[in-house]
Amino acid sequence: MDAKTSRYHETYARWQRDPAGFWMEAAAGIDWIEKPKTAFDPNAGVYGRWFPDGVCNTCYNAIDRHVEAGRGTQAALIYDSPVTGTKETITYAALQTKTEILAGILHHNFGVRKGDRVILYMPMVPEAVVAMLACARIGAVHSVVFGGFAPKELATRIDDAKPKVILSASCGIEVARVIPYKPLLDEAIGLARHKPDACLILQRPQCTAELTPGRDHDWHKTWEHAVVWAHNVLEPVALQATDPLYILYTSGTTGIPKGVVRDNGGHMVALKWTMQNHYGVSPGEVWWAASDIGWVVGHSYIVYAPLFHGCTSILYEGKPVGTPDAGAFWRVISEYGCAAMFTAPTAFRAIKKEDPQGKFFAQHDLSKFRTLFLAGERADPDTIVWAENLLKKPVIDHWWQTETGWAIAGNPVGLGMLPVKHGSPTVAMPGYDLRIVDESCKELPRGTMGSIVVKLPLPPSCLPTLWQADDRMKESYLSEFPGHYKTADAGYVDEDGYVYVMGRTDDIINVAGHRLSTGGMEEVLAAHKDVAECAVLGIKDDLKGEVPCGFIVLKAGVNRPHEEIERECVQLVRDKIGPVAAFKLAITVARLPKTRSGKILRGTIKKIADGDPWTMPATIDDPAILDEIGGALKGKGVGG
Ligand code: COA
Ligand code: AMP
Repeated sequence: MDAKTSRYHETYARWQRDPAGFWMEAAAGIDWIEKPKTAFDPNAGVYGRWFPDGVCNTCYNAIDRHVEAGRGTQAALIYDSPVTGTKETITYAALQTKTEILAGILHHNFGVRKGDRVILYMPMVPEAVVAMLACARIGAVHSVVFGGFAPKELATRIDDAKPKVILSASCGIEVARVIPYKPLLDEAIGLARHKPDACLILQRPQCTAELTPGRDHDWHKTWEHAVVWAHNVLEPVALQATDPLYILYTSGTTGIPKGVVRDNGGHMVALKWTMQNHYGVSPGEVWWAASDIGWVVGHSYIVYAPLFHGCTSILYEGKPVGTPDAGAFWRVISEYGCAAMFTAPTAFRAIKKEDPQGKFFAQHDLSKFRTLFLAGERADPDTIVWAENLLKKPVIDHWWQTETGWAIAGNPVGLGMLPVKHGSPTVAMPGYDLRIVDESCKELPRGTMGSIVVKLPLPPSCLPTLWQADDRMKESYLSEFPGHYKTADAGYVDEDGYVYVMGRTDDIINVAGHRLSTGGMEEVLAAHKDVAECAVLGIKDDLKGEVPCGFIVLKAGVNRPHEEIERECVQLVRDKIGPVAAFKLAITVARLPKTRSGKILRGTIKKIADGDPWTMPATIDDPAILDEIGGALKGKGVGG
């Protein structure tokens, strides 16, 4: 397929001519309780709302309608957990029963009602997916918190979402390490001002959690009672398309995470559209997103989109390497006849590092596999080329954000693949009017680097607002470039309309495909009693793309060994943010390089650390400091 035979250009043009008509047509892919008459109301919400008069239920569209249409015996979920040695296939009919039971428990046992929030702090087990769907069934708003976050981060989310109930498990398993979750949950609830009414705890065989009397309930025991009481079974409730389905917290430019809100109707319409048109996958096929349900990729492409589309979705509790080896992905793809998969480039860098020759790959039959999709961070051309050579199948980079819930730019395999240009996630998807602008929002010519913005309105599924924070929504995304959504990514568009996403314009870094705020880490370091000043920035890493590196300036008079303070700083970030931050490098320096107006020269420090060419900034207050920084980095084995 080439640019001429792909239906991409005509599809994009059709959307441009008639966005409302385009999305109304896509809305026909969803079963509505009341079909929307209006596609978009520009006067509702912060920048308008999609399908304001539609009535629907997300869980019904993910499960019930497929059972009614005869897919009851088809696998909806395949749980494959090398870390526990477990494999389980859950049909659509079984998923329906499980979801009805848990919805009944939430409603009858814990009094959860439409609009109530439920936090999930769970590992990659089928119960977590059932919990998301059970919330959707009764109109409760779920908020999944990634297991690698520390109690303080969980506490912040508890205080913002104010959940009625928290669902958790006794532990997660990281390769061979059992990580007890209950002590983390207890600490988080202790730290939070808001207290949930109840916690439902899944006891896993690897570790038994002690339950707090009066608050904690055993998942299995509660389940057994609910099964006996058949009246617990609940039908999907009717929700406005604009009602919230979930809140997913993501790193913002300060330590306080942003509660990205996803609605019901627009989310379903956009995600259903992507499965065929973007990913080129048909109902009944096996699909795998190797991510975690704690991230947006997990929400959209482990749980919701594949189920809306009637696919079989793989839920994998393991890593690309080490569980047990670098052949794990090939084993899963071949064992289940997977048609397409989606993961972060980091995962492929990890496989490439351990098995550069692809010896494991050669041991598996991947005849049913068609396409590899990568996203979550910039896909470096080396990794793409390596994967292409090995797979002899298309490797497709695509670009999106927690805020959008689906690709802003991609290569629409279902519409006919466009030629791949390494380093580019290809072209804007229908729904996104992308512009490259300067600080005054003036559009820049093709090929010129600038801020990437989307002309409002955003398409369905994108965040209508931040949880109970319309003002923060406006201030974070809509005020800097009036009439546009600020992606906070910088890049350019080439003469063929291909987008190149080169990096963030804020303090967000991407570590192993995980989005983290360096500002948040600086807040933690600044709270250390001996630290006078600090700067955290992302430096290049062969495996994780980027890792954080913290520079600390000690208070006058502190004469403890620097290594001891640096170790404490590393531990502090792990304790306050979590292991997922991968903060392992703190470096003591005498002073930080600044401009004469006091701004830390992060860009220059980064270049030195990355071994990239750099020039002395004209505004620096004392050029000698950069040599000191270079020396300190070399002392830790960093820098060119
Ligand atoms: N619960 C508790 N701890 C967790 C966790 C969880 N759910 N997920 C990660 N962690 C811990 C890890 O054990 C590790 O701890 P350590 O510092 O004690 O070793 C730390 O957080 C960092 O985890 P991670 O970034 O995953 O690094 P890793 O070295 O364990 O694995 C990769 C490296 C490349 C194999 C891994 O990052 C990976 O598979 N990435 C795929 C990317 C991905 O899924 N992205 C999601 C968006 S698409
Ligand atoms: P998250 O919200 O965790 O999905 O992270 C979103 C951010 O990850 C984006 O704003 C980008 O900075 C980065 N990102 C995601 N996908 C890509 C990609 N394909 N190319 C470049 N950057 C990406």
